[in-house]
Amino acid sequence: MDKASIHGMWSSRLAFILAATGSAVGLGNIWRFPYLASDNGGGAFVLVYLACILFVGVPILVAEILLGRRGRMSPVNSIIRIAADSGASRAWSSIGWIGMLAGVLILSFYSVVAGWTLYYAWLYFAQLFGGAGIADAGATFGALLGDAGELTFWHAIFMVLTVGVVALGVEKGLERAVKFLMPALLLMLLALLGYSFTTGHVGEAAAFLFVPDFSKIDGGVMMAAMGQAFFSLSLGMCAMMTYGAYLPKDVSIPRVGVTVALADTGVALLAGLAIFPIVIEFLGAPTGGGPGLIFTSLPSAFNQMGAIFGLLFFALLSIAAWTSSISLLEPATAFIVERTSITRKVAACGMALLTWIVGLVSVLSFNHWSHIRPFGLSLMDNIELLANDFLLPLGGLLIAVFVGWFVSRKALRDQLPDVSDGVFTAWTVVMRFVAPILVGVGLVRGVMAKFGM
Ligand code: TRP
Repeated sequence: MDKASIHGMWSSRLAFILAATGSAVGLGNIWRFPYLASDNGGGAFVLVYLACILFVGVPILVAEILLGRRGRMSPVNSIIRIAADSGASRAWSSIGWIGMLAGVLILSFYSVVAGWTLYYAWLYFAQLFGGAGIADAGATFGALLGDAGELTFWHAIFMVLTVGVVALGVEKGLERAVKFLMPALLLMLLALLGYSFTTGHVGEAAAFLFVPDFSKIDGGVMMAAMGQAFFSLSLGMCAMMTYGAYLPKDVSIPRVGVTVALADTGVALLAGLAIFPIVIEFLGAPTGGGPGLIFTSLPSAFNQMGAIFGLLFFALLSIAAWTSSISLLEPATAFIVERTSITRKVAACGMALLTWIVGLVSVLSFNHWSHIRPFGLSLMDNIELLANDFLLPLGGLLIAVFVGWFVSRKALRDQLPDVSDGVFTAWTVVMRFVAPILVGVGLVRGVMAKFGM
């Protein structure tokens, strides 16, 4: 083991950090985090979310990258290798299968939502050339959701962008582009934050986000916060494991892991602070925004700031989504390339087509199929719930148990040469006990809350 991966390798430590941060920072930070905080009581949700990142997210992130680098193959095959090495059952590779299933489900709706951002970027672009722009944000969003053809079109465009990168292999071009585009997104968020200060609601927004009302923490909030911690860090479906397989041996896994987690969490909190004052200003209250939150509140701000800001914001958000979506498609693509004689291009296109078709369920859940509501939720919400709040934590739980109890200490230590014995022991304790117990309790309480038990 510890040779190079057949799929290629990151050219440097920085290349990995950019790719992994690109995967982590996406719609999860700027679209999903604010609306979940809005719907789950603000501070209580944020507190549980931060605790999940710290005690479960970062340690599992390290575990995923480590397994990938040790196995040097797609998740299923890496786990088979490592299990064989440690005398564990081959059945652990089911973690990789669950991951590929979760990847298809997540990318299916992720691409639909990324399609919304592309559409909004397009509207602002057209406005610069005399288009109508977005006068009534609620009406514009409602009309978009009602139009299955429009949704399908932008969903398809986004999927083509995603498959383009994966089919070519993660090219130098993307590495280089991300280097400029991620800082640009950060600048854009800072500009939005500056605007938010002019609304006079920043204090109120900060109080909503950071002063927890402990009575609001129930099974549903715990599950949502945990699912979001996994989703935002791209954990639990072996995406980071796949990226770890392309990581050079001399890079410190804990250091890159902490860097990626800090960047991801920082962007989410910054987005919250930038977006909530605008939400309060234009929607009246910070709560109850639902998945449309940023699409119905931010356009009001852009009407005052200027269409160019709207264009930049949604274009950069589309790009952030793009650098995330490739990590959802890469694991299955790499797996097909390893197991069959199918080429990378064909494998990526096949998986993308399958995922695009699954995504049509999410498209239709807003219009023709909006009356179909299993468990009182739309079809897209059901897919999100199953994938993010259930499959991702389940995958993370299995990864922790596998690493904590079944992989040989020597194999683990070999990948973490730079940490002290104390830190190494603490991390193995998290893998053995802390993460399985916390995630297990969160899962059980969440499932009970969902089924009204
Ligand atoms: N983390 C990304 C976001 O916040 C989404 C994402 C990309 C993801 N790859 C993933 C989520 C793998 C879970 C698993 O937008």
